[in-house]
Amino acid sequence: MNLSDLQILKKEVLEKANNATTLESINEIQISYLSKKGEIPKIMTKIKNVEDQDRAVFGQTINSFKKELIKIVNFKLELLSKNEKVQTFDVTQPGQWNKIGSSHPITMITNEICSIFQKIGFTVADGPNIETIWNNFDALNTPEDHPSRDKQDTFYLENGNLLRCHTSPVQIRYMKSNKPPIRIISPGRCYRRDTPDSTHSANFHQIEGLFVDQNVTLADLKGTISYFAKELLGKSVKTRFRPHFFPFTEPSFEVDFMHPTAGWIEVLGAGLVHPNVFKNIDYDPDEVSGFAFGMGIERIAMILYNIKDIRDLYENDQRFLRQF
Ligand code: DAH
Repeated sequence: MNLSDLQILKKEVLEKANNATTLESINEIQISYLSKKGEIPKIMTKIKNVEDQDRAVFGQTINSFKKELIKIVNFKLELLSKNEKVQTFDVTQPGQWNKIGSSHPITMITNEICSIFQKIGFTVADGPNIETIWNNFDALNTPEDHPSRDKQDTFYLENGNLLRCHTSPVQIRYMKSNKPPIRIISPGRCYRRDTPDSTHSANFHQIEGLFVDQNVTLADLKGTISYFAKELLGKSVKTRFRPHFFPFTEPSFEVDFMHPTAGWIEVLGAGLVHPNVFKNIDYDPDEVSGFAFGMGIERIAMILYNIKDIRDLYENDQRFLRQF
């Protein structure tokens, strides 16, 4: 092959490579010109046969031919193989996306109950999980020998505080730092030394309610609770008040709701705020009166969602949580 043949060949092949539009054709060019047994290595072995005066230019031409062709082939290979991948994208396949999380059932019930009370003017109040004995028991008129004070039942801390065993101490905190009228709802965690089983947990959640003003009566409590029952379970729900005892209310009641499928279910404890509770935080029981109530969120979640074991609520098993 002489120099001008080489120059023609170079021009033709580079043009062909530049115009190649398929992986197949670019592969073919690579094999026929660049592979070990391809045309370019073959020509290179024959440089010595080229006429003296052309040899140097011939050498440069074949070298630059090789270099340029490698550049074009690599560029095209990358480009066309990308396209190839794009072309194999199957638009009929279902897409892949991450599952969107949802609120935990405890959070859902809490939010629902808070918003039911917010509609009638209650605001959400918060309190700490670590409480003083005074806020958790004494101020709430709990007698010294009340069983809930027992070390077997309540988690006492070394510094003389405790993990609150109910959300009722929030009443005390709120009344101490605010003046009536008071309308609060207070959700939060509580702790008791219960051995875990299908209905008990050492850590659970309650919602506390407190209404304090002048001339608050049992009728206000009944009206509020029956509004709550209807909002939670539907217009036809009936409520039932059974006499009970709590140290911080007098009179005290346990309140049942008539659930459409589960029948009468015990939902909350309630009553009129005990005069001693008012005295403990320097309110005058002749001036103000009020009602309070408290309920366990797990219990309500278990009834509404038909959950048989309270522990399901804490294990974070995705198969369980995804149902909500
Ligand atoms: N603190 C009570 C409990 O843990 C629940 C309760 C009952 C709260 C009556 C109240 C109430 O405010 O008036 O079982």
